[in-house]
Amino acid sequence: MEDLKNKVVVITGGASGIGLATAKAFLATYSKVVIADIDIDKGCSVEKEMKNDNFIFIPTDVTNEADCSNLIQQTIDKYGTIDVFINNAGIEISTPVHEMELEEWNKIVNVNLTSVFLCSKYVLNYMIQNNKGNIINTCSVSGLVAWPGIPAYNATKGGVLQLTKSLAIEYAKNNIRVNCICPGIIDTPLNKQSFTLNNEQALEVVKEEKAKLSPLGRLGTPEDIANTMLFLASNMSDYITGTAISVDGGYTAI
Ligand SMILES: NC(=O)c1ccc[n+]([C@@H]2O[C@H](COP(=O)([O-])OP(=O)(O)OC[C@H]3O[C@@H](n4cnc5c(N)ncnc54)[C@H](O)[C@@H]3O)[C@@H](O)[C@H]2O)c1
Repeated sequence: MEDLKNKVVVITGGASGIGLATAKAFLATYSKVVIADIDIDKGCSVEKEMKNDNFIFIPTDVTNEADCSNLIQQTIDKYGTIDVFINNAGIEISTPVHEMELEEWNKIVNVNLTSVFLCSKYVLNYMIQNNKGNIINTCSVSGLVAWPGIPAYNATKGGVLQLTKSLAIEYAKNNIRVNCICPGIIDTPLNKQSFTLNNEQALEVVKEEKAKLSPLGRLGTPEDIANTMLFLASNMSDYITGTAISVDGGYTAI
């Protein structure tokens, strides 16, 4: 993927899990990488670990409009442009609707869906002027089919899917592609709480059970998703926009 060399890529939620694996994958192709995350300790330690002029961390709360605008501006100030923007930050909360407080509902909607609107708004303003761009959203299989026990999460990911399609058709005339990836069950810190309520022993047992839900018989790895990010960012996918690629070991084929 030669064309990714020197491309400027911004990844929200880049300090952990899928975002971090994606950041490392882009760095390996000699892209310039910005990770944006609310977790300042993790972001700083990843930046330190990478020790690379082509890798920076910008502390960002993607639910905060000023932070989203600042993320775009600071990236352009540092690297001169933005080629690829990845809306990846997300949280999962397992509460049934009849027990959910409005505050909790708003939190998950803000982190998983409103953030995609906010970051896209500011990066689109730049990409439109530039007459090119590429936005990739981390959706979920739960944007396609409802996953038990996480109704608010399912709703936000359904929203991300429709926002992806809407942006794709609206900004195709500006030479901007917008796609999303729908990961299945991926082995990252996000699942820890919902799998086991932080019981480490139970975690391995639950992981084995969850692995059996996909025809391929294993959990996905963050690298499985990172590889698809590279494809969608590269010119190998030049004619792809407005689509959702499931990377789920066959989970949604059943
Ligand atoms: N792990 C899975 O099974 C799975 C499946 C489908 C979709 N996804 C999606 O993949 C994306 C990444 O999840 P992951 O599994 O790597 O989880 P993760 O918990 O490892 O990483 C999520 C990152 O988002 C950051 N974040 C949370 N709130 C934020 C905020 N307000 N501002 C900025 N950053 C914030 C966290 O600090 C964390 O670093 C999410 O959108 C998630 O919904 C994950």
